[in-house]
Amino acid sequence: MTSLKSVTPSSTPLGQPVDPASSGEVKSSVPLKPKYVVGKPNILDRALFLERVEQILDTAIHTNDGPFARRLEDLVKEELDVQHCIALANATLALELLLQSLNKVGEVIVPSFTFVATAHSIVRSGLTPIFCDVDERGLIDCDHVERLINKSTACILPVNVYGNVCNVARLKTISQKCDIPVIYDSAHALGVKENGIRLGGFGAAEVFSLHATKFISGFEGGLITTNSAELADKLRSARNFGFAGYDAVESIGTNAKLSEIHAAMALTNLEKLEQIIAHNRDLFDIYSSRLKPPLQLICPADSEQSNYQYVPVLCPPELRNHILSELFNKSIFARRYFYPGVHRMGAYQHLNLHLPRTESLSESVICLPTGSAISQADAALIAETINQAAG
Ligand SMILES: Cc1ncc(COP(=O)(O)O)c(C=O)c1O
Repeated sequence: MTSLKSVTPSSTPLGQPVDPASSGEVKSSVPLKPKYVVGKPNILDRALFLERVEQILDTAIHTNDGPFARRLEDLVKEELDVQHCIALANATLALELLLQSLNKVGEVIVPSFTFVATAHSIVRSGLTPIFCDVDERGLIDCDHVERLINKSTACILPVNVYGNVCNVARLKTISQKCDIPVIYDSAHALGVKENGIRLGGFGAAEVFSLHATKFISGFEGGLITTNSAELADKLRSARNFGFAGYDAVESIGTNAKLSEIHAAMALTNLEKLEQIIAHNRDLFDIYSSRLKPPLQLICPADSEQSNYQYVPVLCPPELRNHILSELFNKSIFARRYFYPGVHRMGAYQHLNLHLPRTESLSESVICLPTGSAISQADAALIAETINQAAG
């Protein structure tokens, strides 16, 4: 393990496995169904989930702010020690509605080292993403943020990549000094603590993902947490077509409600939060003790209590695709989270930006499998395999 404190995975929602090093240089005989997969859903109590599905069918309450959605919101508020939680259909819509609810025009400063949804949510809200570079752990570079702020800056949208925590103290100072709201994309960071404080109440609001690949899966789903009652009311209305009361529609909302079956899945997994973290931490320790140079694990900082949702490893860039292919040949589906950096994706490359640390990280990081589907013996085997591939 190196002195680097942490890193995050690139987060393409899991579909059918495709060539992991999709540069076209992979010469593997590709297994159709890899055995060890990044982002395989955590399922901790199948029997309880199925019992809850029966209840949903029996009560015939399938959606529209139902009892499981409310129980999920209540448990999130309690766990994260935050006043309001709004459950939504996914984190992308959560980001869009949150940005729209700020009622701002102009620019949003956002790291490029993230999943495309973060940037897309800005554009889809009629705002302009201004891409920012990151530090060596993939977290927003606050010096760069300060240089990018101008009179058109409407908001700052940092990402707690891999569940590592941005410099929340500095971002708060910047926010107060410049009177610009900060909202966090904490899609990876449910259950993470910074200096003993659970994420959820930082900035104006935080967004978490319940996508199947995420730490707490609801199949799909998203959460917004905030300590602002006014913002919470707006968001509850916005996720439900703008309804403010019976037959009263006061704003242009959408349908971003979380269905009961999704809420029941997320609730059932959230109830096992500590168990999932403990399992992931054990796997992280195995990777950490076994990976050998030139591989470098990105570790949580001393101030962070991670959920260990991601196991990000830095490899020499010239070996990275070779390593991915070798792993894939051994039925291990590791991921390049995040490659190539949003600013270099087709939808944004016309901006012609150069963000050196984002590009360097995106060319060297691999995320390894973890979660409830991976045993300690599996992690040891994967560590051995990647050591050999890199050696
Ligand atoms: C950093 C980040 N933000 C946002 C999202 C979007 O989450 P969702 O799939 O719930 O819309 C993801 C999902 O992969 C993500 O990794």
